[in-house]
Amino acid sequence: MSRLDRLPGTRDFYPREMRVRRWIEARWREVALRYGFQEYDGPILEPLELFTEKSGAEIERQLYAFEDRGGRHVALRPEMTPSLARMIAARSQGLPKPVKWFSIPRLFRYERPQRGRFREFWQLNLDILGIEGVEADAEIIAAGVDVLKGCGLTAEDFEVRYSDRRLLDAVLGELGVGEPRRQPVYAALDRLLRAGPEVVVAELQKAGLPASTAEALTRAVARRELAGLEALLPGGAARLEREVERIGRLAAYLDAYGIGQLCVFDAAVVRGLAYYTGVVFEMYDRAGELRALCGGGRFDDLLGAVGGENLPAVGFGLGEAVLLELLAARGRLPDSEPTCDAFVVPVSAADREGAIAAAAGLRSGGLAADLALRDQSVGKGLRAAAQAGARVAIVVGERERASGRFTVRDLDTGEELALPLADIIQRLSDGRRTAARPEE
Ligand code: HAM
Repeated sequence: MSRLDRLPGTRDFYPREMRVRRWIEARWREVALRYGFQEYDGPILEPLELFTEKSGAEIERQLYAFEDRGGRHVALRPEMTPSLARMIAARSQGLPKPVKWFSIPRLFRYERPQRGRFREFWQLNLDILGIEGVEADAEIIAAGVDVLKGCGLTAEDFEVRYSDRRLLDAVLGELGVGEPRRQPVYAALDRLLRAGPEVVVAELQKAGLPASTAEALTRAVARRELAGLEALLPGGAARLEREVERIGRLAAYLDAYGIGQLCVFDAAVVRGLAYYTGVVFEMYDRAGELRALCGGGRFDDLLGAVGGENLPAVGFGLGEAVLLELLAARGRLPDSEPTCDAFVVPVSAADREGAIAAAAGLRSGGLAADLALRDQSVGKGLRAAAQAGARVAIVVGERERASGRFTVRDLDTGEELALPLADIIQRLSDGRRTAARPEE
């Protein structure tokens, strides 16, 4: 790598990639607004402790952290949830509940770059605060499903896997694993599908669990069904009645949203982040080729932990990088050609000012108009118009200037008309309203 190269895991977005990113963001925003979420943002740089104390050990190892010129310990945000908690905690009294907010933050994690994983990436975050019940969990999962559908994916492409940390908590309580040892236990179990059972058993033992408990717990979680967890308990299912009832209600609500067939219970969904307290979920491609598209859950204690009113909360983060991989694999990426409404071509140098005035008129009429900036033949000008993705080329020559009517050439059909500028603006604006334009 030369000294001036892009840093590993960071991203250059050339216009083609940028158009795709903007398209994805537009789909995300559209669904979030359709579900009644309001957009917010925060600083990309935060106090280091916001993440060392709230996110957990894995994220802590991945932080881009440094001392600023004022001697403050700061970090580039690796996730949005602690910033959201800080912002809500500061104003929670005045906010009507439930709070439904969304954001599209740029994030940084010092991870090993690989397929769908970067050191710099974007996430859609949707969160609902102020509702304790599974009503909010179901609403947030339904919104996540619609986000992926809004990007062109179908029930055949992905699924939601959910569980509830309270189930695991009840099991751990019965097994004699106290609160202080639970965080490393969650972090270990979260790695089951990626690292395999041997690694998890070893880590559980490192966290202080006896070998037999570590093995039984790993085996139970690896079964991925509720029955696996229930079988671990001396009292069986009766001990988990409340948790099982809650999960049942969530499943019924997901059915009512019409997404039941897309959602499965999975005890192996634990989530590595430190702050989750209840329902947790992840979305995966069904082919199983990619890492999670999305991860989230309930974090009822985080606001209290950052010094605010202890509002219950649930939300998720959905990354653009894995989504891009899946859309590309399914051939669902949008057509990413540049587009503009009109491209103005002066016939000769003498027509330059007339062409400028025409482009200015189109632009102040609200249209996207480009203009040939080099004196060249009309043929070359028309080719440039096609390259710019223009719907029409407007030719400005002596005849046009004299008559006040410009030659408008439809670049798809080759059809030509001579029209005054006001009529051209009218026609192009009408066409814009009727055509569904992929970039909007
Ligand atoms: P997370 O599981 O760390 O959760 O990240 C959520 C999603 O962000 C992942 O499923 C993945 O799509 C994407 N992602 C994470 N790391 C990378 C990376 N290095 N490169 C590309 N994409 C990545 C959270 O961040 C929680 N704060 C989500 C949340 C919001 N929970 C409640 N509210």
